[in-house]
Amino acid sequence: MTTTATRPVGAQARASISARTLRTDRWWIAPLITVIGLSAWIAYATVRVYMHKWFFVEDYHYLTPFYSPCLTDRCGDAAEFGTFLPNWWIIPEAALTLPFLLLFRLTCYYYRKAYYRSFWLSPPACAVPDGHKTYSGETRFPLIFQNAHRYAFYAAGIISVINTWDAIKAFHSPEGFGFGLGNLILILNVVMLWAYTLSCHSCRHIAGGRLKHFSRHPVRYRFWTFVSKLNTRHMQLAWITLATLAITDFYIMAVSAGWFGDVRFIN
Ligand code: FES
Repeated sequence: MTTTATRPVGAQARASISARTLRTDRWWIAPLITVIGLSAWIAYATVRVYMHKWFFVEDYHYLTPFYSPCLTDRCGDAAEFGTFLPNWWIIPEAALTLPFLLLFRLTCYYYRKAYYRSFWLSPPACAVPDGHKTYSGETRFPLIFQNAHRYAFYAAGIISVINTWDAIKAFHSPEGFGFGLGNLILILNVVMLWAYTLSCHSCRHIAGGRLKHFSRHPVRYRFWTFVSKLNTRHMQLAWITLATLAITDFYIMAVSAGWFGDVRFIN
């Protein structure tokens, strides 16, 4: 009788089943891949951010997104917005923007699902019990701050503009205009970053939320329709952008370190 009091009205009592789950498929593969993928990416990004070198190719003006905007004395010609951050090892060159990007991804609706399932096992998969005894959702500290996602979206939009500026500035050679494989990689990365940012659920709500009549807001309706289509691919874009960010960074590191040269189409 006591359980009935906490059960939603009209809900049936849960059958008493001793097995932890009746699923016989390999439901644990998705959370396992997520743990491996996210852990590898975080390890790579952390190492790169604290290397403090091989982030800029001076001849072609290639700047890795992990160091943009570059704001310390170590930046040299990569400093487009001043060098007002202290030159301490603990301070990344892009210390002004990295926390917002981290917040944007951490509070993203897709990543929340991914790390709640894979790292916190809450729950690890459909029809598999929660790894914890209690569940308070996102109603308390610290998870209540997941609601800040919409503000992180605005910051991410500004950072995408800065990344776009970096990609434009990179059409550069020692003689003037230039174009190489690095440009293609930088452009692909920026296009994917915009696709991921605009496919955000908060963006979709900003575009078309709280409207009573779409017919009276044709521009917002068109934008909402566009964002809604992107939104259906939000999970894929979340992973694709992790890949394009890492590939862009690695390519610029390799060219900057002299491991191989940039493939030039126009010098
Ligand atoms: Fe994923 Fe906003 S919901 S970035």
